[in-house]
Amino acid sequence: MISGFRASRILTLDPSLSHKENPLGAIEHGCVAFESGRITFVGNIVDYKESRHFPLVPLVTPGLIDAHTHACWVGSRHDEYAIRMAGGDYRDIAARGGGIIASSRAIASATEADIGHTLRARLLRMAALGVTTCEVKSGYGLLPELELKQLRAIANAAADRSLPSIVSTFLALHSIPAGYSRTSYIATVLAETLPAAVGLAQFVDAYVDENAFTIDEARLVASAARANGLGVRLHVGQFADVGGAELAAELGALSADHLEHVLGRGIEALAAAGTAACLLPVASFTLGQSPPPVAALRAARVPLVVASDANPGTAPTESLPLALALAVRLYGLTPEEALIGATRNAASSLGLSDRGMLQIGMRADIVAWDLAHEHALIQPWGTPRTRAVVVEGNAIVNIV
Ligand code: NIG
Ligand code: FE
Repeated sequence: MISGFRASRILTLDPSLSHKENPLGAIEHGCVAFESGRITFVGNIVDYKESRHFPLVPLVTPGLIDAHTHACWVGSRHDEYAIRMAGGDYRDIAARGGGIIASSRAIASATEADIGHTLRARLLRMAALGVTTCEVKSGYGLLPELELKQLRAIANAAADRSLPSIVSTFLALHSIPAGYSRTSYIATVLAETLPAAVGLAQFVDAYVDENAFTIDEARLVASAARANGLGVRLHVGQFADVGGAELAAELGALSADHLEHVLGRGIEALAAAGTAACLLPVASFTLGQSPPPVAALRAARVPLVVASDANPGTAPTESLPLALALAVRLYGLTPEEALIGATRNAASSLGLSDRGMLQIGMRADIVAWDLAHEHALIQPWGTPRTRAVVVEGNAIVNIV
């Protein structure tokens, strides 16, 4: 069955329709049609006669793509925010039993079904905010069996066509669990967790920073993962530049994420390797940090991606539109850069060439908004403003 939308304004994000005055490839009085999960027409209403049957909405965009989330978490870490507001840092939080280890305890005591249920509910709330593809990391299990419990819950959600499409990432190095030395933990990840994660995840990730994992530790695990066919994305430079951006470039990572702390040589390495910079403004807002060097990244033509970082500690949100609003307000991205960073560039950073723009033959991942213009979309309004969210031709949110 052919379905579609008519809209006062359609943003195609198609580079062949984009130019200086129209950076998002917008079509006024447009129409998008789809059949069997693929887009069959994008253009002017007058060029598509059957369009009079389609709902008329103010604004249509490609589905938003959240390229960095820790959405597979359970429990609550609300107490940490108060500690932070009182001036505490991660050491104070850890001293009170909080942080990544607290999420790890919660994963240990939840069943796989509980984890799946929580993830499903969260993904549906993200969908209501316009997300049609979501990257989801493990990284709260830490121990082999618990990481795999998370990865299986993510794989189950990925098979559910009533949810956003999922890209699964094995966050191999996030924190060292009790009972392990650094060396014994890395050895366990390499010998046990990674081989079992290979069939479940598409990417590997590691938290490369001071007080986290070193360049050498991350190189060892990420190279082994890459040799097993996984793509690489890395947390780098959230607190200090320890050379993580250069490592991401060396490993051919599709994205280097955070980058509040990155020097010129790291930026040059990312540009030369074509590695995207995934900016996570909710995390730096929560931590009260200064923005990444956006002007230098832009000047070096590093592709910019914006993601939510949804997690219970440093980015307690499920909202990619909120991240876009903060990317504009706090990081100085233009609204157009922010939107490209949550659609076309986000798709490339996940290795997905079938989405991120509205073009004939692409997946029908489409959002109809009750907002008149994309500049309203990146204002910090905070409530869902979608009228329909379509994933591969299926309306998973439908309030048209
Ligand atoms: O992306 N930096 C490391 N990991 C997460 C935080 C995870 C957590 O606190 O649970 C991040 O900010
Ligand atoms: Fe993160």
